[in-house]
Amino acid sequence: MSIIENAFNKAKNEGQMVDNATDSPLEINKPSPEQPSSLKQLITPVSQVTHTEKTESKVIEETTEINWAKLAELGFVTPGDSNTQTIEEYRNIKRPLVSNAFGEGSVGIERSNLILVTSSVPGEGKTFTAINLALSIATERDKKVLLIDADVARPSISKTLGIKSSPGLIEYLEGQDVEFSDIVLKTNMPGLRVIPAGKRHKHSTELLSSNRMILLAKQLSNRYPDRIVIFDSPPLLAATQGEILARLVGQVVLVIEAETTLQSMVMESVNKLASCDVVLAVLNKSKVGMDAGYYRYGQYAH
Ligand SMILES: Nc1ncnc2c1ncn2[C@@H]1O[C@H](COP(=O)(O)OP(=O)(O)OP(=O)(O)O)[C@@H](O)[C@H]1O
Ligand SMILES: [Mg+2]
Repeated sequence: MSIIENAFNKAKNEGQMVDNATDSPLEINKPSPEQPSSLKQLITPVSQVTHTEKTESKVIEETTEINWAKLAELGFVTPGDSNTQTIEEYRNIKRPLVSNAFGEGSVGIERSNLILVTSSVPGEGKTFTAINLALSIATERDKKVLLIDADVARPSISKTLGIKSSPGLIEYLEGQDVEFSDIVLKTNMPGLRVIPAGKRHKHSTELLSSNRMILLAKQLSNRYPDRIVIFDSPPLLAATQGEILARLVGQVVLVIEAETTLQSMVMESVNKLASCDVVLAVLNKSKVGMDAGYYRYGQYAH
């Protein structure tokens, strides 16, 4: 065991170290030296002490209130929900994703905690699925979720959650003095933070494929491996943005609207996702075999 590891263990045993698993505000702009994991953990409490003022100001950061009544009306999974069928369906959908993100399934999957929700064409239920997945995972006491509206051309996360629209992903990618912490909204659901899409931008495709976006994805994966990051996205066959985003994540959820989306479209989408390690298909709005659940899900192997 190295001197650093000894020091790390000693500090931990003596209770001097802050547990990394606590729900600290996300900060992404600090330099990221490539060091052994034990050294990184040793550094964490030092930076927290030297940035006391900033940390304190974040503790009292504004909480964004999600409109639970509106979500419940629209059929979303909400805290205290009694719609056990929907809850159970999302439990089944999230299980393999969470296992791939943190569990034994994560071995060999790059950026396994980053999940993109997409579909072939508009209206199949991407946003519905992204929000429900985020809520379902965030209700687990030990899980933290960051929900990002990356459907920057037709954003709808903020509207659906009933929260004010504010600077978001686009402003961050433009890089005009907007820090990562400026765009992350803390919500009234512990464990759930949201990044809105931000303003419309005529060069949004270029921004989503920019180095800043690639760096953001890397940092979200490397620095916050204990968080699930869910991206809502545009449909794959309508724009290139979904395909661009799919290259940045470890897992993709392909939403398929039952009895509507043509098989040829689904296959075209699957081909566009060929480079992705994991593609999980969710058959949404299925009315067949209600006893087996409103949703069906399966996994494409590449
Ligand atoms: N399983 C479901 N049960 C009930 N309503 C659903 C379901 N899935 C989607 N919806 C509803 O269908 C509509 C379209 O869904 P949603 O907005 O999630 O699609 P989308 O794929 O994100 O569309 P877009 O491509 O326009 O972003 C919404 O009103 C949503 O609430
Ligand atoms: Mg949508």
